[in-house]
Amino acid sequence: MERVMERVAFGSVLLVCLVSGASALLHTANPHAVCKSCDPQPAICKSYQCIANCSFPKVCPNPDDVCAAVWWREDGVVMVETMCHDPMQPLYGVKLDNFSSSDCVLTIRFVKGRILRLCACTGHECNEHMLLNKPDNDYDLVLLRTSETKVFRLPQLCKFCDVESTACNATGVCESSCNITSICENPDEVCVSAWRRSEGNAIIETVCHNPALPFYGQYLTDYNNTVCQMKQVEDMKEEFYICSCNEEECNDRLFFTDVSSPPGTESPLSKRSLRSVLLVSLFPVLIAVVVLLSAFYCFHMFHQHNLKAPKTKGIDSETCAIIVSDDDRSDSSSANSLNHNTELLPIQLDAIVGKGRFAEVYRAKLKQGAKDESFQKVAVKIFPYEEYASWKTEWEIFSDTELRHENVLQFLTAEDRKAEQCYWLITAYHERGNLQEFLTQHVIGWDELCRMGGSLARGVAHLHADRTLCGRSKAPIAHRDLKSANVLVKADLSCCLCDFGLSLRLDNSMSPEELANSGQVGTARYMAPEVLESRMDLENIESFKQADVYSMALVLWEITSRCSAIGDVREYKPPFGKLKDHLCVESMKDDVIRDELRPEIPASWTNHTGVQLLCSSIEECWDHDPEARLTAQCIVERFSEISSTMISVSSDDKSAQDSGNYEK
Ligand code: ADE
Repeated sequence: MERVMERVAFGSVLLVCLVSGASALLHTANPHAVCKSCDPQPAICKSYQCIANCSFPKVCPNPDDVCAAVWWREDGVVMVETMCHDPMQPLYGVKLDNFSSSDCVLTIRFVKGRILRLCACTGHECNEHMLLNKPDNDYDLVLLRTSETKVFRLPQLCKFCDVESTACNATGVCESSCNITSICENPDEVCVSAWRRSEGNAIIETVCHNPALPFYGQYLTDYNNTVCQMKQVEDMKEEFYICSCNEEECNDRLFFTDVSSPPGTESPLSKRSLRSVLLVSLFPVLIAVVVLLSAFYCFHMFHQHNLKAPKTKGIDSETCAIIVSDDDRSDSSSANSLNHNTELLPIQLDAIVGKGRFAEVYRAKLKQGAKDESFQKVAVKIFPYEEYASWKTEWEIFSDTELRHENVLQFLTAEDRKAEQCYWLITAYHERGNLQEFLTQHVIGWDELCRMGGSLARGVAHLHADRTLCGRSKAPIAHRDLKSANVLVKADLSCCLCDFGLSLRLDNSMSPEELANSGQVGTARYMAPEVLESRMDLENIESFKQADVYSMALVLWEITSRCSAIGDVREYKPPFGKLKDHLCVESMKDDVIRDELRPEIPASWTNHTGVQLLCSSIEECWDHDPEARLTAQCIVERFSEISSTMISVSSDDKSAQDSGNYEK
């Protein structure tokens, strides 16, 4: 017992010595924080974060100091001052909180009429990176490096949570409750909020949006406001309000009341709008005149705008900016709307260019102005009144602005042409027509095969994805009728998907019954074995994507079959036989299921390394087992791998491989 007591006493003494020794050591080593410490200078910002770009770390003089940063905008450029700071003392009159966090998360403050953002943190030079929001697993923080980015004028900062449910009942003043502040991608964008009731639930959507483009079919007129004054939108299926404004995070507070009396508006911004509302009430006659003049002006601009909307070519995956292009005129305005305007677009139909199951497609001229002779070529898909359901499906698919992609047909607007008893979908027009027609008339080279196949895969991958290239959430969509006739060839020979009349949003909008009834659709020739057999797992959204991948593989095979890299190129034939043959489900079942037939890949094709690699991927996509198939995204990656392999092959053996010219 004595021995035990002795050991315990010795142990305790040792422990005390160790602890005090260690703390003494730590204390003498360096108890002071090391923080970035620079006078105000421009910062580098992207997405949800900024870096101070300060090369002066400083050992803080006070052992209680933490690292801090102050952030503000001057003429659109973000300025940042970094420093050591005692968190018990106010900084610019603001008490810092959350200073023990290892991340410097900026909080917005109004200081003497200025908007400042401040943050504090604990950790070695932790004020180098400043975050606009608390880090969250929902989005990836890209670590910015100074060498990668440039100082730039910072576009607007808006609340950006996309869609969230809310307790706000569209009265008084509501907070968006969105805790994500985003740097808008494009300097033209303003802050927008929408409130709607969907299936009984109130929903608030907060986004950045370019007012040159319609938002839910509406052109925003209030985007220069400093506060977000909600206005009810008529003609919507549900109760729907929209507001826009152009001040930092102004789409956070939503005024359903008149802003002349918003409760609790102490900020200078609100005072400004208060003044303007006062003016309005003092000069009703003046306003009436202004309204009349604006109505006249809007009517005129509506025509102009539809004709001159920005020409977009796609989305830059780096900056997520929409790339504006003038040369690709047909791939133009990105309006996703129903033209509610009683005034229909001034369109003159020229010639029929396609005939589908439910509709006919015309090449048409969209006139630029009343006096102006100039026009833009567009495609008009005309549905008879009986095909309302197909028109609606396709219009609803196109109405999702997140569907916009350079490899998805660009949608302009939809119209209910009551007088002619038909519905219209107006889209970009592509002179080269559909892929089947193109392949019938052209032999392509290896480079064109990669361009066409790669862009097709990117289009399908985007359709299937639940995020856009910019990381915004989007509904995954199954096309369900992929075939070469539903792919258009653009001027640069890249492809885009069209005809979404059978498409399905793979989100929760479908009831189990609707899902169960959505079995066998599409074109028999391109149907996956499980679709032919009606054995798809309808409860698993992946099954719809797997069936699309099978059809895409057949289209990739068609493109390959017309590429000079395979050697002897024969006349165009669709998969499984002659063009004119009408293949029914039963005959396809015999070929595809009983005999497990697939389009032929002759041994001679594989003399070309690239074609060989591509054909193995195609085979993996038309596997009988849907689960074993590659995803469209995987095919996108395979195309880049194959292209890089071919670059090294061609530098070794340039002449042995294909030249890449395409001929008529
Ligand atoms: N055929 C079907 N849609 C088309 C379009 N948008 N452009 C050209 N041809 C088409």
